[in-house]
Order: sequence, then structure tokens, then C-alpha cells
Amino acid sequence: MDETTTRLTEYGLPLDPEAMVRPPDVTELELEPGHPGLGDDGYIQRRKALFALCRKHRLENLGPPLIEYTAEETRIWREVSPKLDELHVQYACRIYLDAKRELAITRDEIPQLRHLSDRVQRETNMHLVPAEGALPYRTFYEYIAQRGFPVTQFIRHGSHPEFTPEPDMIHDCLGHVPPLMNPDYAELVALIGKAAATTRAGEQLLALKRFSWFSIEFGLIEEAGATKVFGAGILSSTGEIPYSINSPDVKREPFVTDVVIATDYDPSRMQDHLFVAPSFPFLRRELETLVRRFGIPVL
Ligand SMILES: [Fe+2]
Repeated sequence: MDETTTRLTEYGLPLDPEAMVRPPDVTELELEPGHPGLGDDGYIQRRKALFALCRKHRLENLGPPLIEYTAEETRIWREVSPKLDELHVQYACRIYLDAKRELAITRDEIPQLRHLSDRVQRETNMHLVPAEGALPYRTFYEYIAQRGFPVTQFIRHGSHPEFTPEPDMIHDCLGHVPPLMNPDYAELVALIGKAAATTRAGEQLLALKRFSWFSIEFGLIEEAGATKVFGAGILSSTGEIPYSINSPDVKREPFVTDVVIATDYDPSRMQDHLFVAPSFPFLRRELETLVRRFGIPVL
């Protein structure tokens, strides 16, 4: 390990760059301490079954399985998605709203990833990969490098419909999938994937991870003189949407790549430091410049 890599920190803690380039493979469902589903055997059995099914489909390249959702899962979707819908109309960027309509994602039925994947593929040649849970960063981006976006197919626990400690399909389908219909966004995501899957340098991977955190996950965008939301982490949270735009506690500054890649964050709490990009083409150009500067041979 050299001088630079030993100084890497993430979430305020020292980071082992080796763990970033060689991620662990999680072969069984693990719910973190404090997860609202712990102690609910029915929920855990369902999660285990979906974990096994989606993992099999992912590893065998079978595409998203068609899932028969339960009445409880549909109830949770019908409780959360109208609330998000109202906030999206007010706060989400135009590209997102148009794409959500194009994809025919409704408040009533949980969408099937297989159908969303077919539609996105026709539009931008990205497809959706079934994921059993949050994949390690590098594994995640190895799929994206192949233009496949990993998406979960389970739903959060019904005791706290507005909270999930892990990305679930409300986060993925209502946050990540719609912008994939935009060509500039799709190219941006695919390039992050290629660069992250190619570099062997932990500090470059960390920079790419931060770039995507402050854009794909928690990005804001200028639109006709107003600040709008396009980050999936914001768009899938009823608390985070108004907080990101209205709260005086949030620092919002222009998206400057060198500042972004030097900025740490805490994923476990509401985000109080955000960056505003002028457009998707801008982000795509910024990323291309960064990747060239890093000397990652993917362009
Ligand atoms: Fe996400």
C-alpha cells in the first residue's frame, strides 16, 4: 500500500482500497442489525426466496424473473408510491417525469422488471439485471460497464413503509430506472461502470463512487432557473425530496468535479451537502474529462 492509498477515508473511517477492488461475494441474505424485518419469519422467508431466485437469474444471465407479488407487497407499494408521485410532480426534473410516464409506472401495480428492462433497452440500449440485494460497488459497476443496471425485486418491510435501510425496488424502480431512458444519463452511467470496472486504483474507484453518489444517487439539477431532483436516493424518499430542495440545513453548491470527488458523505442519514449540475450532458463531459485525467483506457 502506498502513501496515498493508506490515507483513503470513506464515511469518516479509514478505507481499505483492496476491499474496493476485490469486493466480497455475499451468498446468503443478511439483514443488518435494526432492520425492521428482523423477527418477522414470513418476511424473512419471502426475502430468502427472492434472494435465491434473483441471484440465480443474475448469475445465469436469465434476465429479471416475473414475480407474483403478494397482497402485502402490493399494499406497501400502493401506500408509498402515491406519496412519492405527488412529490415527484413538484420536485423531480422534467426528464425523470417524462420517463416515468413513458415507462407506465403506476401507483397501483408493482412493475415487473422484465417489462421495464425491455422498454429501457429499446430506448437507450441499457437493460436491467436482477439483483438479490445491494451488490458490492465494483460488482455493481461491472454490470453497468456491460450496460446492465442491477435492480432489486424485493420490497421493504411493511411496518415502516417510508423507510428502508437498504435499496429495495421502490428505490430502484422509482429512483434509478426512469432516468435510464435518457441517452446522456445512460452514457454517463455506462462510462462510470466501465471506468470503475477497469481501474485497479482504489483512490480512483473512490472518486468514481463519489461522483456517482453526488449525481446518480443524490444529484440535483438546474432546470429553467429552478433546482430539481434527479438522484435516485432522493427521489425514492418522501423525507429526502422536500429536505433536499427546501431545507436551510442543506448546503447546495454547483457541481465542480474536483470538489465532488474530494467530498465524503454519511449514507446513513439525510444528506445535508448536495451538488447542483447544470445538465446531464455537462455531467457526461465532466466524467469523460475525469476518466481521461485518471488515464483509465475506456474512451
Ligand atoms: Fe441507489
